[in-house]
Order: sequence, then structure tokens, then C-alpha cells
Amino acid sequence: MKTVIIYATSRGTTEKAAQKLMNYLNHLQSKVTLINLKKEKIMNLADYDSVILGSSIHAGMVQGKMKKFIKAHQEELQSKKLGLYICCMYEGDKAKLQFEMAYPEQLRKNAVASGLFGGEFDFAKMNFLEKFIVKKVDGNAKDISTLSEEEIEKFAKTYNDCIGR
Ligand SMILES: Cc1cc2nc3c(=O)[nH]c(=O)nc-3n(C[C@H](O)[C@H](O)[C@H](O)COP(=O)(O)O)c2cc1C
Repeated sequence: MKTVIIYATSRGTTEKAAQKLMNYLNHLQSKVTLINLKKEKIMNLADYDSVILGSSIHAGMVQGKMKKFIKAHQEELQSKKLGLYICCMYEGDKAKLQFEMAYPEQLRKNAVASGLFGGEFDFAKMNFLEKFIVKKVDGNAKDISTLSEEEIEKFAKTYNDCIGR
């Protein structure tokens, strides 16, 4: 069984999460492929029976590339062993709401694992506009990481169990 983690990131947090997730999916490791939607060509989804989608949230929205990818492949994704995660700074109900906005209901219902992995603020990596937006929303915002190793590991275990390993 081949697994692909398809992710969309602005400043690398979602990629970091994808790499950690791949390491936790240790039984599958040799067969797990990572695809950065912003850099790599869309692969043939038919090559994979297990698909994990990951995206960060900016201004309440899933990454545009992820939105387009889902729109183009929604029907095919329905037939996959699906996992879904987001990276974001909001927590609790706000994060859940963003997750619901990020992925269509059909996919969420079909998903065998769902994850809210947390996020990072790294001001050195942000452009002027991003810094401006973040400071406007939270004047006290500073470099921080809430990326949760625990949540990523939990997701990996659930996903592995559900795909029958
Ligand atoms: C300009 C900007 C807007 C953001 N908007 C949101 C938001 O609406 N909700 C949220 O939970 N996190 C928000 N975040 C936090 C990001 O989701 C977080 O920084 C995440 O780690 C980014 O992941 P990436 O580097 O993979 O894109 C925002 C961050 C930036 C820089």
C-alpha cells in the first residue's frame, strides 16, 4: 500500500508537520511520499491508496493550492484511505471551525484521521504584509511554536490502525 502526504505551506510549518508525520508512519515509511503542492507537479493519484492532505490556515482560509487540488480531485479522494490535517495558531473551537472550513464535509466524513497540529510564528520568515497582519490581529504576537508532536503522533497511530497495519 502506497501513501502520499500532499501539503500546502507558506513558510514551512505544514511541511515540517508532514515530515514528522512521515517519520511516525514508521511501518509505511519506505512507501510514504511527500508532495509540496506549490513546488511539485500533481502526481497520478491512482498510484496511491492512502492519501493525507495538510494545509496551513491564513486569514481563516485553507491554502489556495489545496482548495484547487481538492476541487479537481474530490471524487477520486472519496475512494482513498484519507487523512486530513491543518496547521494554524488558533486552538480549540476556533481551530475546529477552521478545519471544517478547510475541507469539504464529504471528505471530513470519509477521513480515517483528522488533525489540528498547531502552528508557528517566525517573524524572520514573514514578509512585511504578513508581519503587519499578525501584529494587527495580536499586538503582542512573537516567535512561538505550538506545533504538537503529540497530536502528530496520535494522528499517525490512528491512521496506521485504520488502514489495517
Ligand atoms: C499573515 C498570517 C495570517 C494568519 N492567519 C491565521 C488565521 O486566520 N488563523 C490561524 O489559526 N492562524 C493564522 N496564522 C498562523 C499560521 O496558520 C501559522 O503561522 C502556520 O504555522 C503557518 O504554516 P505554514 O508555514 O505551513 O504556512 C496566520 C499567519 C500569518 C503569517
